[in-house]
Amino acid sequence: MPNPDLGFVHRFEPGRAPVRPLLLLHGTGGDETDLLPLGRMVAPGAALLSPRGPVLENGMPRFFRRLSEGVFDAADVRRRAADLAGFVAAARARYGLPAPLALGFSNGANIAAAVMLLHPEALVGAVLLRAMMPLSDPAPADLSGRPVLMLSGAADPIVPGDNAAGLAALLAAAGARVEHAVLPGGHGLSQADVTRIEAWMTREAPLP
Ligand code: MLT
Repeated sequence: MPNPDLGFVHRFEPGRAPVRPLLLLHGTGGDETDLLPLGRMVAPGAALLSPRGPVLENGMPRFFRRLSEGVFDAADVRRRAADLAGFVAAARARYGLPAPLALGFSNGANIAAAVMLLHPEALVGAVLLRAMMPLSDPAPADLSGRPVLMLSGAADPIVPGDNAAGLAALLAAAGARVEHAVLPGGHGLSQADVTRIEAWMTREAPLP
């Protein structure tokens, strides 16, 4: 059942293995169930924390408001990133979790990037699928050593290649260990994404 506690409707699946919990963040029009199968596939046994985006755009859940395709409401991005960081802290206390890795797709990847830049304590790292720059003027963050896997689509009609490359450069300049790959295909995910995420998780997800 969806759980409306802690400020976000969400699903929580307890972990069964000594691996990082995953914070699963769906794309526009998705919900808290969308990325559970991907999370189970790429990090078997990980605790899964999956909130539903609290903003509705024509009935479609999102994690922050946008003014048009690719044009974001910066004040709302900041507000919603703070809310999501607060949710992560509350969920960690409730469920007894170490800091999670985010696994976000599209709008979910964009809010994950905003949380990393604005609330770096909330996440130990992130997998950003089809992400773009969430803010035009983020303050410098300290992401020293945080692992980030960014997977973009070579023919993505929503995310311009230079925008994705700019986000990768921004995260790297903040100290993150960024691995950015541009895969064949568009905005949707493919088996190539799953294969890359699995290999990255094998290195980054085990708890010390
Ligand atoms: C966004 O609005 O975050 C991006 O344009 C991706 C999308 O959700 O379509």
